[in-house]
Amino acid sequence: MGSSELFLILLFSVFLITLISAKDLYFEATCVNNGNFTANSIYGTNLNLLFSQLSTTADFNYGFYNLSVGRSPDQVNAIGLCRGDQKEDVCRSCLNDSISELKQRCPKYKEAIGWSEFCTLHYSSQQLFGSMKSEPEQIFYNKYNASDVDGFNRALRPLLTNLRSRAAAGGPFLKYAADNTTGPTFLSVIYALEQCTPELSQKDCSDCLTTAMGKMDPYCTRSIGCRILQPSCNLRYETRPFFAVEGIPQPPPPLSLPSPPEGNGNGNRSNKTRIIIIVVVASVVGILSLVLCIWICLKLRKRREIIEKGDEMIKAESLQYDLATIRTATNNFSDENKLGEGGFGAVYKKLQK
Ligand SMILES: *[C@@H]1O[C@H](CO)[C@@H](O)[C@H](O)[C@H]1NC(C)=O
Ligand SMILES: *[C@@H]1O[C@H](CO)[C@@H](O)[C@H](O)[C@H]1NC(C)=O
Ligand SMILES: *[C@@H]1O[C@H](CO)[C@@H](O)[C@H](O)[C@H]1NC(C)=O
Ligand SMILES: *[C@@H]1O[C@H](CO)[C@@H](O)[C@H](O)[C@H]1NC(C)=O
Ligand SMILES: *[C@@H]1O[C@H](CO)[C@@H](O)[C@H](O)[C@H]1NC(C)=O
Repeated sequence: MGSSELFLILLFSVFLITLISAKDLYFEATCVNNGNFTANSIYGTNLNLLFSQLSTTADFNYGFYNLSVGRSPDQVNAIGLCRGDQKEDVCRSCLNDSISELKQRCPKYKEAIGWSEFCTLHYSSQQLFGSMKSEPEQIFYNKYNASDVDGFNRALRPLLTNLRSRAAAGGPFLKYAADNTTGPTFLSVIYALEQCTPELSQKDCSDCLTTAMGKMDPYCTRSIGCRILQPSCNLRYETRPFFAVEGIPQPPPPLSLPSPPEGNGNGNRSNKTRIIIIVVVASVVGILSLVLCIWICLKLRKRREIIEKGDEMIKAESLQYDLATIRTATNNFSDENKLGEGGFGAVYKKLQK
């Protein structure tokens, strides 16, 4: 019994690591039919200037970018939004990558939107800042249905409603909320994420997410995973973890000042002891994390090598966020209207409108 338990625990750990390392990449673009520009026009020049500003802008601003170049009628406005759990480097690479994708996919369009795993980029000749847009949208749903559809929705709906209020209440820097809930079947967990562009009012954000939830029907009502991508907000749920829960850049928290030193030496000494304990614990945790990281990286590398030997290139590409290969991978995906997922090979269907 002892050894079978140990085996189960081992199996579960392997399963968890697979889950965590399973990353998928997608890039979806909508070229909005809202006027075209020619190669040497002022609009084209402004758009290129905006792209270079976006790639080089110094502020991270919790992953929100609001840019504007030129004067009407040749003004180009853009909003970039990174997923709320992503750090600056991933955010910047994602926006850089979206720029090259949109240049390729919507070369002459004045307005275009690109959605991907870690960011959304929208540019237009119209003002985007502060205006809630729930269209155009893209909807994806996992082709696999929940085994207990009613139970699944009973767990999912309250989570989505809760995340909507939390995201909307997020304040002017970050309107992002992600969490999990227990699913209907043994050990099952549902993970969901909702985010709005942070300049929206609380009401607009809430309305945008309500619209997104409305679009789940009928495509996502049975599915174990769904993504509703809108210009001003997006919603996603999966039965595996896909967002970070630690190390998330947070908007300025109220400063918690260290308690004032006490009048006697004992107070100082206990403060020192506390600091030493904190430093030691932090170092140990840091070293352990590093070892774990290296171990996971080595595993991943090995796995990738193994997979690359097979036919399924899509899975291999999607194991890591490699900018150079995304283009090939995403082009394949969009050609087939499919979305690959690392690890599990789940396939998403794109809603055909
Ligand atoms: C812009 O160009 C696209 C593709 O070249 C074309 O389908 C579309 O009709 C054009 N839109 C306008 C408003 O001219
Ligand atoms: C965002 O861009 C708009 C349009 O250019 C501008 O009116 C607004 O002040 C900008 N807001 C911020 C916070 O940069
Ligand atoms: C994004 O592109 C700019 C210019 O092409 C480059 O300077 C910058 O290093 C890139 N950033 C990332 C994170 O790739
Ligand atoms: C999911 O449910 C829908 C509607 O009942 C059905 O058409 C579809 O074939 C199911 N998908 C799978 C993978 O069973
Ligand atoms: C679910 O979320 C809670 C925080 O709300 C977290 O403590 C917990 O670890 C998460 N569970 C899983 C399985 O991810």
